[in-house]
Amino acid sequence: MNAPDDMITRSRTEGDILLSCRNVTKEFSVAGSKITAVDDVSLEFPEASVLAVVGESGSGKSTLARMLLRLMPVTSGTITYRDQDVTSIRGRALREYWTEVQAVFQDPFASFNQFFTVGSLLRRSLALAQVPKDEADALIEECLTYVDMRPKEVLHKFPHQMSGGQRQRIMVARALMMRPKVLLADEATSMLDATLRVNVLNVLHDLKNDLGLTVLFITHDIGQACYLADRVAVMEDGRVVERGSVEEVIFSPQGDYTRRLLADVPDLRGSLKS
Ligand SMILES: Nc1ncnc2c1ncn2[C@@H]1O[C@H](COP(=O)(O)OP(=O)(O)OP(=O)(O)O)[C@@H](O)[C@H]1O
Ligand SMILES: [Mg+2]
Repeated sequence: MNAPDDMITRSRTEGDILLSCRNVTKEFSVAGSKITAVDDVSLEFPEASVLAVVGESGSGKSTLARMLLRLMPVTSGTITYRDQDVTSIRGRALREYWTEVQAVFQDPFASFNQFFTVGSLLRRSLALAQVPKDEADALIEECLTYVDMRPKEVLHKFPHQMSGGQRQRIMVARALMMRPKVLLADEATSMLDATLRVNVLNVLHDLKNDLGLTVLFITHDIGQACYLADRVAVMEDGRVVERGSVEEVIFSPQGDYTRRLLADVPDLRGSLKS
């Protein structure tokens, strides 16, 4: 079991703990054998902070994300949001949780219906959330403008008529329309080329500063993690094997696994100093 002092220490500028998980484990049964995809993970997400969870493919990042989003039940452990145990909430409480904790995934195509324009997609999302029609257009405009897109230019477009970065920013705008407190981005930038990636990373970065959002950024790329996050947790085989501020992880990594991840991005130390 992870001891409480295992938790990442809060920096003084950060807010109260908004979301946390304690001793969360997920086991899957595959062809008669048991896989522990997430193994006794405890993490805290203070208000208005960015935490990156980084690790190689199969280390359990998305499984952890799905449990935090309450899209998948935990095998054991507790998820707490605003001091309330949300591990097994249902019905109205769960629907409220799902508006406050929004997600952006790797492949925006999978989240788009190809036959809807961006405008109809966003309006449908708001209708489902029972936002009155007369408020919807203003909200759509506000959120698109926030992610640096001109509503007039994109509302009539279909998903295939936009770049990957544009699609990804539409997904961020859609999440923002729900006025979330937490945004969980699972490999949200990994399908983008370098320029578009920086563009989306900057949007995510501003969410914390401008809107006070708590961002959980999941990636296999420790370079991106350190670019964006205040703090980093490193996962290996379902366990958190390292955690700390970006500076701590880059300049004094504790484990070989983290050192290996860092070796892939030799420029990281220099870029942090400059
Ligand atoms: N629904 C499932 N049933 C069985 N095993 C699963 C299921 N989902 C995930 N796994 C297994 O759990 C482990 C962790 O998977 P997960 O998708 O969480 O990894 P990840 O860190 O997100 O990887 P990637 O970087 O490739 O997205 C893997 O071994 C995977 O095969
Ligand atoms: Mg994943």
